[in-house]
Amino acid sequence: MLIQTVATQPFPDQKPGTSGLRKKVRVFQQAHYLENFVQSIFDTLEIPADAILTVGGDGRFYNKEAIQVIIKMAAANGFAKVLVGQNGILSTPAASNIIRKYGTFGGIILSASHNPGGPDDDFGIKYNTGNGGPAPEKITDAIFANSRQISQYKIVDELPEVDLSSIGITTLDGFEVEVIDSVSDYADLMQSMFDFAAIKRWLAAGHTIKFDAMHAVTGPYAKEVFVNRLGAPVDSLMNCEVSENFGGGHPDPNLTYAEDLVKVAYGAQAPDFSAASDGDGDRNMILGSRFFVTPSDSLALIAANAKLIPAYAQGLSGVARSMPTSGAVDRVAAKLGIACYETPTGWKFFGNLMDAGKVTLCGEESFGTGSDHVREKDGLWAVLCWLNLLAATGESVESLVRKHWQQYGRNVYSRHDYETVPTAHAQAVINHIKQQFASLPGQVFGSYTVNTVDDFSYTDPIDASVSSGQGLRILFVCGSRVVIRLSGTGTEGATIRVYLEAYTEDPAQQHLDAQDALAELITVSNQISQLPQLTGRQQPTVIT
Ligand code: G6P
Ligand code: ZN
Repeated sequence: MLIQTVATQPFPDQKPGTSGLRKKVRVFQQAHYLENFVQSIFDTLEIPADAILTVGGDGRFYNKEAIQVIIKMAAANGFAKVLVGQNGILSTPAASNIIRKYGTFGGIILSASHNPGGPDDDFGIKYNTGNGGPAPEKITDAIFANSRQISQYKIVDELPEVDLSSIGITTLDGFEVEVIDSVSDYADLMQSMFDFAAIKRWLAAGHTIKFDAMHAVTGPYAKEVFVNRLGAPVDSLMNCEVSENFGGGHPDPNLTYAEDLVKVAYGAQAPDFSAASDGDGDRNMILGSRFFVTPSDSLALIAANAKLIPAYAQGLSGVARSMPTSGAVDRVAAKLGIACYETPTGWKFFGNLMDAGKVTLCGEESFGTGSDHVREKDGLWAVLCWLNLLAATGESVESLVRKHWQQYGRNVYSRHDYETVPTAHAQAVINHIKQQFASLPGQVFGSYTVNTVDDFSYTDPIDASVSSGQGLRILFVCGSRVVIRLSGTGTEGATIRVYLEAYTEDPAQQHLDAQDALAELITVSNQISQLPQLTGRQQPTVIT
C-alpha cells in the first residue's frame, strides 16, 4: 500500500467545542482542512496493529465525501479495518453501540447534530473513544494542540472509493473496509432492553403515536423499531426520509423547530404520544396530547419509574445531570437513596461516571437523555422509555407528569436562548455579572434574595480532572436559580443561554405555564445581567 505524506499548514480554528469540531461546510471544503483535523485526531492516539475504526454520520451534506477521505487516512495511519454504516449512516447512539459491541478502537462521527445541513450550512466531526463515548477534554485539547502544529498528513490515495451503498467487505493489502447495516444492531439492542410485547399490545389497543425524524438520521431506525418491530401504523412516522439538508429545516427537536410535530400534537386529533429526534439521533422531545414534557422532568420521571422497564428492573446505581438541568431528578434520587451527580454541560462528562458504574441514567436540559447502554445520549431510547412507561401504567403522558409533580413538587423550568449575538456583546453580559460576584449575595430583587453567585467548576470524581468556567450561577435563598452561559456548539457569533428554575411544592401553582410562573424571575435575571441593554435584544430567539 502506497502511503502519501502531504505537506500542510495549520489552521488556527480547529478547537473542538462542546461536541467536536463544527464549522460551515465551506470551511471544511478548504483544501486540507478536513485532513488536518483527522490527522490531528490520529496523532493523539496510539493505534495498535489490529485497531478497528467505526465511521458513520447523520447523512448531512458532505458526509459521504468526508467518509471516503477518513477511510483513506485510516489506512495510511495504521488502522487494520474501518467499519462504516451503509450509505455512511450511523446515528450517534448507534455508532456508540457499534464501537462497544464490536470492541472497536474508537470511532469518528460526522455530524453537526441539530444544526442545519447543506452546502451553506454546518458540518461536524468528533472522535469517540473505545468506551463508545465522546473523547474527554484531555484528548480534545491534545487534538487542538496537534492541529496548531501540524505540518503533514498521511493518506492512501490509491485506495478506490468504497461503495457505501452495498453491505460487504473491500480489502487492499490487508486493510479492510466493511460496510454494515446501520440499523439492525441498534434495533436489537433496543429490543433487548424494553418490553416490546407490552408496547405492541398498547399500540394494538388503539393508542396512537407520532414520531418526527425531522428528515434526519433516525428515519430508518424509527421505521425498523416502531413499524417493523412494534407494529405501529406507517402513518405514525413523519419526515422519516433522510435528506442531506434535512428538508431545508433545522433538525432540533424543540417547540420552535419541530413545528410540524407540534401542530399535530396540539391539534384536534392529537395522538396519545408524540416525539421527535434531532439531526444525529441523540436528542429527543417528548409530548403528550397537547402537553409538553420539559427534558428535565422527563429525566426525573424516567428515573422515578425505571423499575417498570426491563433493562432497569434491578434499579439504578445512580443518576447524573448537567449543571443547567433542573434539580427535579435530584429529588427522585434522594427518595430512591441513590447518588446524583452534577456535571458541566456536555455528554462527555458522564462517560467516566458510567464507566465506573456510578450512574445508570443521565440527562441534560438540552433534550438529551440516556443510560449506560451506550455512551451517548439516545433519542429513540428515550422515546421507548416513555412508551414502555405508558404501556406499563396505562396512564397518559400528562397524568404521569402531574402525578410526579404532586409527589415530588415541580421544578418549573425554562431556557431562553439569544442566538447569533456578536461575541463582544455576549462577553459583556458575562463580564457584567462577574463584576457583581462580590456585591450580589444578600441583595434583594422583588421577592428574590441572592444567596450565592459563582462560575461553575467541576472536579471529576473518577480522574480528578478539573473543568472550570462552566457557567454563571445565581442562586437565590428560596432555592430558585438563574444560570447563564455561552453555548459551545454554535457556529456563528455567540449564543447566550439563560436557564431559569423555580421550585414549587404548592399543587395550586403547578398547573401554571412555565413562562407565567417564571415571569418575575425573568425580570430579575435581566436586571442583574443587563442582557437587553448590553445586547440590544429584547426577546430570546428560542424558548424551550
Ligand atoms: C450537544 C452536547 C450536549 C450539550 C448540548 C448543548 O448536544 O452533546 O451534551 O448539552 O450540545 O451544548 P451548548 O454548549 O450549545 O449549550
Ligand atoms: Zn445531536
